[in-house]
Amino acid sequence: GIKIVTIGGGSSYTPELVEGFIKRYDELPIRELWLVDIPEGQEKLNIVGALAKRMVEKAGLPIEVHLTLDRRAALKDADFVTTQFRVGLLDARAKDERIPLKYGVIGQETNGPGGLFKGLRTIPVILEICKDIEELCPDAWLINFTNPAGMVTEAVLRYSNIRKVVGLCNVPIGMRMGIAKALDVDASRVQVDFAGLNHMVYGLNVYLDGVSVLPQVVEAMADPSNAMTMKNISGLSWEPDFLRGLGVIPCGYHRYYYKTSEMLAEELEAAETKGTRAEVVKQVEKELFELYKDPNLAIKPPQLEKRGGAYYSDAACNLINSIYNDKRDIQPVNTRNNGAIASIEDDSAVEVNCVITKEGPKPIAVGDLPVAVRGLVQQIKSFERVAAEAAVTGDYNKALLAMTINPLVPTDKIAKEILDEMLEAHKEYLPQF
Ligand code: NAD
Ligand code: G6P
Ligand code: MN
Ligand code: MN
Repeated sequence: GIKIVTIGGGSSYTPELVEGFIKRYDELPIRELWLVDIPEGQEKLNIVGALAKRMVEKAGLPIEVHLTLDRRAALKDADFVTTQFRVGLLDARAKDERIPLKYGVIGQETNGPGGLFKGLRTIPVILEICKDIEELCPDAWLINFTNPAGMVTEAVLRYSNIRKVVGLCNVPIGMRMGIAKALDVDASRVQVDFAGLNHMVYGLNVYLDGVSVLPQVVEAMADPSNAMTMKNISGLSWEPDFLRGLGVIPCGYHRYYYKTSEMLAEELEAAETKGTRAEVVKQVEKELFELYKDPNLAIKPPQLEKRGGAYYSDAACNLINSIYNDKRDIQPVNTRNNGAIASIEDDSAVEVNCVITKEGPKPIAVGDLPVAVRGLVQQIKSFERVAAEAAVTGDYNKALLAMTINPLVPTDKIAKEILDEMLEAHKEYLPQF
């Protein structure tokens, strides 16, 4: 039987994961699921863990669900370790979103200053987890969902001894689903050539039944009635002629780069009225955990769709299933580039279509990215690398460098002001500085 350990098990997304494992039980016989959290998450862990147990029981499957705050005990002999934790919880995310706004800069949990700080808080923790994996379950696969997933994967590749690591995101699946909906066809008929970085991924081509339909998809995206975005990103419409010029399919997060001032205006307005995304998510979570407490509930409630993580479990469970069963199907994941994208170093993490084998993802070569997007992708990769180095070393100058080279931050002076305020605000979770 398979042993899975989920770190950050108290997440409201856990029922999604459990549902995915239940659906695939015949192919993926999981014997033990260990949900791990920290004392601050104990209450959530107990509620969501009890729901997970009811779900498994209702399905009549012999999956043991264990809840623990002892990460090391859980990790012993694991086959797969999935990570979905949030260092500093939603209060830290709210700071990541609000502080940059004061300086006229995008406040977002995985982009700009917020992405930098989420990385600075998260990377030391993931590297500790890597050390535990090395010692307690050296053959396990680490499947990381924790954001910023691209920067975190980069840090694991560069600063740990773990090689069996895959970074995952639901954005590519969401894009494929959105495209299928816009074309009004079943998603199984749509294939997308994904390449780029996490939250900076492009669809380089799109196929319907194997035939390219890229121009039709560009036109569909240019139609303002097709927002093609996720619950957490405003669906501001694209300038149709810009999309026609770009000629590839951007992801929802590209709005922060190509529509920076419009997105900033939306964020400022939201911060004044309904609150930032973290503040909205706090409310959604409250509602979800009230539902989860119901002893008669034994399924994933539809209200979970209010979160941005739609298809999260499909991404995770399909990946684990294909590794376990050596399926050799194609999935977009974050992995070591190995030359797949010509303009990115071999040893950096990229998000690209891969053949998923029992030895892990084999990235499919795409050559160079189109010249119009190559520079931005490289710039974000430089940002991620410098940020990861700052997270590991606690070097202030490197942190300032990362902040300044981020395309969403206009000047070195503003970068320093934001950096200083955020270092102070988050100091409890930044022992390295
Ligand atoms: P959450 O706020 O519910 O946090 C999940 C759990 O992590 C909490 O119960 C918390 O107590 C726990 N936690 C915090 N620090 C921990 C630590 N050091 N060790 C173990 N557990 C710890 O968060 P969420 O909204 O469920 O999201 C979890 C993470 O997954 C975030 O980093 C989020 O950005 C990411 N996420 C990524 C994707 C993706 O596409 N890659 C999709 C959804 C969520
Ligand atoms: C998308 C992204 C995730 C991100 C999530 C935020 O799914 O791919 O990486 O964590 O949105 O959703 P939330 O509901 O927390 O705002
Ligand atoms: Mn993501
Ligand atoms: Mn800049």
